[in-house]
Amino acid sequence: MDIRFEPSRGLVGELTAPADKSISHRAALLGAMAAEPVRIENYLHSADTDSTLAAIQALGALVQERDGVITVRGTGLREAREPGGPIDVGNAGTLMRLLPGWLAAQEGRSFTLDGDESIRRRPVDRIAEPLRLMGARVDARDGRFAPFTVHGDRLHSISYELPVASAQVKSCILLAALAADGATTVGEPARSRDHTERMLLRAGVSIHRNGKHVTVVNADELVLDRVIVPGDPSSAAFAIAACVLVPGSRLLIHGLGANWTRTGFLRILRRMRGIVVGDLESESGELLAEEPICDLDIAYGSLEGTYVDPEEVPLAIDELPLVALLGCFAEGETLVRGASELRVKESDRIETVVEGLRGLGADIEATGDGFAVTGTGGLRGGVIDAAGDHRLAMMGAVAGLASREGVTVRGMQAADVSYPGFVEDIRALSR
Ligand code: S3P
Repeated sequence: MDIRFEPSRGLVGELTAPADKSISHRAALLGAMAAEPVRIENYLHSADTDSTLAAIQALGALVQERDGVITVRGTGLREAREPGGPIDVGNAGTLMRLLPGWLAAQEGRSFTLDGDESIRRRPVDRIAEPLRLMGARVDARDGRFAPFTVHGDRLHSISYELPVASAQVKSCILLAALAADGATTVGEPARSRDHTERMLLRAGVSIHRNGKHVTVVNADELVLDRVIVPGDPSSAAFAIAACVLVPGSRLLIHGLGANWTRTGFLRILRRMRGIVVGDLESESGELLAEEPICDLDIAYGSLEGTYVDPEEVPLAIDELPLVALLGCFAEGETLVRGASELRVKESDRIETVVEGLRGLGADIEATGDGFAVTGTGGLRGGVIDAAGDHRLAMMGAVAGLASREGVTVRGMQAADVSYPGFVEDIRALSR
């Protein structure tokens, strides 16, 4: 589906951010693993998170929805049912990487996971290796791609250092560790989002963090009761970027997740002199249980280029395409380093962002592990192909609103995997 976004005369108004995708996936999965029913309020209904609800039902969980509240009646930690056929993860990388952690602990049962064309290009060896070390077997196509089969077994605890910071891989190990025989420790080279840790803490699990290491002790059961999903900072980031780039804009965003591990983009934006007012969580030495929320007040303003260093990358990983876009409008150079993970997202986001923005008139170069943008005061506009990648589609739309001539996005429907209603929301705010 091609959609055209004409230059905007300002985005003005209020927006309730769509529900958080990462937290929705985790709430459904932990609900399926829990001993008692879990009520989930404000669950995100998108293609990705609907895949998770379908997957847990195939594994024996009951899912009911009434008045916008989802109740999951799970099977418990060790009683997932073997489904009749492969589990379809669709386009959802988070589901594909987290679910095997639970499945690995299902002794004597096997589970095959498969998904769409894009998911079949995304590596799973990063979870297969630690799960094998814990005692499960994972057979993947060419050793590293879907379709792959997880053969559940009795698991042992491990100490594991992640080669790259990834909340998905960390979470997979933490879920497997719940049914292992002792305490498992996972270390990462840089902090990544910690929603799994917070939710496990709320579910009564013994879990703690020491710097970049998390240790979890095996558990008999999870008791979670109720999860309220906050607004997704990565989805709201598109409206936020449009607001800071289009002269005359002023937006209030309500109910946004303020977890420090998810607000790296807002810190980068503030460093670029973007006007962002709100009560964001500060960095904490210890593991917190709650997911704080805040309101944000954003306004248009001129920007300066910045340097995003490798430690910041996991804290803003899904928003880095927007950092590139902001860089096109900022004064000076914007440089992102240590972001080779972008190459294994829904598309190779270093290539697709650089090619896409260059096609709209940007002065941008790919580097091995990121990109360098030189601000030229704006963007001409043109046509951008979403390459089946939701974040690229939404970046293209924002580029159109802020451009001189407008942008046509090819494949805008990709946005539905994380933000159904994006086009309507952005049009309602734009003058
Ligand atoms: C996610 C973690 C990130 C992120 C993805 C969602 C999660 O992936 O890009 O959109 O919910 O854990 P990695 O942890 O693989 O970087």
